[in-house]
Amino acid sequence: MFTPLSSPTLRSNRPGSRRTHLARVVAWATATVVTVAGGAAAAAVATQSAGPGGPDAPAAGAGASTTPQRVDCAVAKCVALTFDDGPGPYTGRLLSDLKAANAKATFFVLGKQAQGNPGMIRRLHEAGMVVGSHGWDHKAFSKLTAAQQRAQLDRTARAIQDAGAPRPTLFRPPYGAANSATKKLGVPLILWNVDTLDWKSRNSAKATTAALKQSRRGSIILMHDIHPTSVAAVPGLIRLLRARGYTLVTVPELLGPTKPGGRYFGRH
Ligand code: NI
Repeated sequence: MFTPLSSPTLRSNRPGSRRTHLARVVAWATATVVTVAGGAAAAAVATQSAGPGGPDAPAAGAGASTTPQRVDCAVAKCVALTFDDGPGPYTGRLLSDLKAANAKATFFVLGKQAQGNPGMIRRLHEAGMVVGSHGWDHKAFSKLTAAQQRAQLDRTARAIQDAGAPRPTLFRPPYGAANSATKKLGVPLILWNVDTLDWKSRNSAKATTAALKQSRRGSIILMHDIHPTSVAAVPGLIRLLRARGYTLVTVPELLGPTKPGGRYFGRH
């Protein structure tokens, strides 16, 4: 049903006005670095490098899931796992596996799915995962009017907020498809540079191999938590990425402040 194009179809990158940008930076800082005390949000991604005992090490206590992960991805070898199209029947299992591994990920959820499973959205947020928007019902934004695109984003944001998570500050356009109107929606467009093609192969080993082969420092890895084969691949993939020196972070941790209308395939 959901068959993303193998590569994003966006073209130019035109960041919004400076004023809007600053507003979004503030929004980003307050929305995503909620576990950082005081006004040091801007420093949250630049204070601790990864390594033994670092952010990937198991944290103690029941509240470990909300422990801030302070990672400087300019130093650490970071990658961001991202999961699209959910939440679905396998998202709960994935969340358990991520928590067991003390790993964080970013979920680009469909508004329709969020509305149908608000409890899972809340659980994702409470576990320290980042919940981004993937639009309401997986329409290609490049084929929608500006008003329709805005409605898709607003409706999805409401569903996510109604579920108890913050208003999403990140947007992944379905199929990576966007046009000039999409870039004026006031949100950064989060794409990917590692395509596991998990939706196509429906094979855990193939998805894992694809992720390992394409990953490099700063990568954004695209997967889909609506497929059991993808979810089953995750614990092993996390182990293998860490064995190669990678630190798993959320997209905000990976990118730091983003610009509305900017396109992000990874860090750098
Ligand atoms: Ni999708």
